[in-house]
Amino acid sequence: MSTEQFRSVLGNFASGVTIITANRENVPFGLAANSFTSVSLDPPLVSFCAAHSSTTYPHIRATGRFCVNVLADDQGDLALLFARRDADRFSDTKTVDSPLGSPILDGALAWLDCVIEQEHLAGDHDIVVGRVLHAYVDTDRSPLLYFRGKFTIV
Ligand SMILES: Cc1cc2nc3c(=O)[nH]c(=O)nc-3n(C[C@H](O)[C@H](O)[C@H](O)COP(=O)(O)O)c2cc1C
Repeated sequence: MSTEQFRSVLGNFASGVTIITANRENVPFGLAANSFTSVSLDPPLVSFCAAHSSTTYPHIRATGRFCVNVLADDQGDLALLFARRDADRFSDTKTVDSPLGSPILDGALAWLDCVIEQEHLAGDHDIVVGRVLHAYVDTDRSPLLYFRGKFTIV
């Protein structure tokens, strides 16, 4: 199996899209991630995978916490912005601080405020497990979806 084939098959698993954020000494950091998933109900745990090539994740790790912002159907531009290395991701992005002090993006469908509980090495990524201490959902909104390399809506 080639990398291309592997990537193409995985692209058929439709996912939501999140932006993982943290404030490190008052500087906001964030990256788009579709590897987010729920892990455990009791205790409440979630996870995402951070690529070893990420220049943003080391800053998030250093804070010991992260906020998962689940994007709404009109936030495709934000997902692209938070995947671009050369972009100033927060200059035009409205945020408020979560109870744990991480950025919550204006208009997110839901957010989960977490402390990092475990990190597991997995190939070229780290599986980051977070304990959810606070969470919120706006039930009037619909999710942004990612399928076959494109953003789509329900
Ligand atoms: C839809 C989508 C999903 C992504 N999911 C992940 C992910 O789960 N984990 C990850 O490390 N990077 C993911 N990326 C890439 C990051 O958003 C970003 O491009 C990468 O971290 C490089 O930026 P950085 O150096 O600031 O971290 C995704 C990008 C897109 C567009």
